[in-house]
Amino acid sequence: MAENKGAAQKNQAYAISDVEGTRKLYADWATTYDADTTEGMGYVAPDVVAELAAEFLDKGAPVLDLACGTGQLGVHLRRLGFSTIDGLDLSPEMLAVAEGLGIYRSLGKIDMTQSYPLKEGSVEALTCCGIFGPSVIGPEHLAFLAPPMVSGARAVISINGKGYEERPFEDALEALFDDGLCREIYRGFNDYLPKEGIDALYVVLERF
Ligand SMILES: C[S@@+](CC[C@H](N)C(=O)[O-])C[C@H]1O[C@@H](n2cnc3c(N)ncnc32)[C@H](O)[C@@H]1O
Repeated sequence: MAENKGAAQKNQAYAISDVEGTRKLYADWATTYDADTTEGMGYVAPDVVAELAAEFLDKGAPVLDLACGTGQLGVHLRRLGFSTIDGLDLSPEMLAVAEGLGIYRSLGKIDMTQSYPLKEGSVEALTCCGIFGPSVIGPEHLAFLAPPMVSGARAVISINGKGYEERPFEDALEALFDDGLCREIYRGFNDYLPKEGIDALYVVLERF
């Protein structure tokens, strides 16, 4: 049976464990990423994250969309009433597509394998979709989310179900709670890449 459009790139992404390899993959994928993920694999995570953001985050606050990619989540956030959206991502090519949407207040580069170059307590609302999982961003990078968040700020994140099964994400979440960095407001499994049979854990965290 023919594989879904985009499945080869997705499998490549899952197999890459270094930042340079990831940068190269997304440089080559940026122009077809949207069609490959949505039409090809039925990607719904941006929609699910945005719906949770609308339910649990302050729509009046600027929201930081981490690993924003081409901006699929930004489109849903805007549709649901978020007016100020900033985006950060590793890939200049993915950011260029997001820029073309004209919905992000600012866009810039970040490497989420390092502590973020953001002022402590400067982020009021955060979303992060489609990046925690089986590839380069793993459970060991979850704790970087907390320092830039101001006390009371909330984050909606997705954790790819394949990555969740294979890696100790649950331990990393527990550590965030035990270390007094965040508390959990919501968790639930939902569709992610339904045509590929992959779901995700969606979590809403609140900074202590
Ligand atoms: C599967 S895409 C998800 C993009 C977008 N959030 C979405 O849901 O469509 C993963 C994104 O993470 C970015 N990325 C990969 N490694 C990264 C890193 N180390 N730091 C920041 N972003 C990274 C990629 O450039 C890509 O845009």
